[in-house]
Amino acid sequence: MNNTIYFDSNADEATRRAQLYDGQIFMFSPSKNSSELCAFAREMIQSAFGDLDPLKAQYSMPVEKYAEILAELKPRFIHHPKSKQYIQAILEDLRCDLRKTYFDVPRLRSATSDNYLTSGIAYAFHPHRDTWYSAPFCQLNWWIPVFDIQSENSLALHPKYWTQPLRNGSNRYNYYQWNKESRKNAANHIHEDTRDQPRPEEPVELDPQFRIVAKPGGILLFSGSYLHSTVPNTAGIARFSIDFRTVHLDDVVGKIGAPNIDSACTGTTLRDFLCGADLSQIPEELVRPYENPPPRVDLGFGLAQKA
Ligand SMILES: [Fe+2]
Repeated sequence: MNNTIYFDSNADEATRRAQLYDGQIFMFSPSKNSSELCAFAREMIQSAFGDLDPLKAQYSMPVEKYAEILAELKPRFIHHPKSKQYIQAILEDLRCDLRKTYFDVPRLRSATSDNYLTSGIAYAFHPHRDTWYSAPFCQLNWWIPVFDIQSENSLALHPKYWTQPLRNGSNRYNYYQWNKESRKNAANHIHEDTRDQPRPEEPVELDPQFRIVAKPGGILLFSGSYLHSTVPNTAGIARFSIDFRTVHLDDVVGKIGAPNIDSACTGTTLRDFLCGADLSQIPEELVRPYENPPPRVDLGFGLAQKA
């Protein structure tokens, strides 16, 4: 049963992973390294917006200009060596074995207020599971606010769907195809996003939902299978957050993770992950079994055809 939020848990990392695969949630207070990562991000954000308050910059420029700034800022953050070093330090602080913990590059996300910019480079994520996007079922999501946030501009988790399948478009999603065709062009989708992303294909009951409001540098950790969404921002100010994902090599090998109740995508994101110790990739022979995996459950709406 997914019913617990653990704050600053002292559980060992293997126990924590098992609990995450069972739908439990973990929160960690800001640490020295997570606070420094956020300070580093704030510095970069501030320099991108010049003299403007980054949280209110949307009121001072046309949306095209804002998108242009983000299109330059976000990749710069993602690829900066310091960003990776902070992630390694954060993982180590939280008792991850860096030799077996693989992470993907940290993303800087933004959510402007009142529908100013919600597509392309600042995509407002509809309710989704990362496993609809070719993530492995052992993927864990780490999410960190960069500035102070409020309920009105945070991230929402939808616990009901931990056990309840949602009809969705993941069966049309192939990670390699997606990368090839549309990811590069995210900055061009300023007014609407026409890319075919895996979405719910039946009405979603967003409530009950819970939103985590943490201090900058506070860390939310949840399974990549957990249904989550960007809260439609009505706070009047932008939200900036950092997220990254991890997988543990033992679970990749053992195909251990959250249960698959409704994902039918193809391809795998596993080649994006880098070893916490030396930034090497997961050996190809361990990735190959994840190509076009057959679904574990037939829900009667087409998943079986993917096998
Ligand atoms: Fe996500």
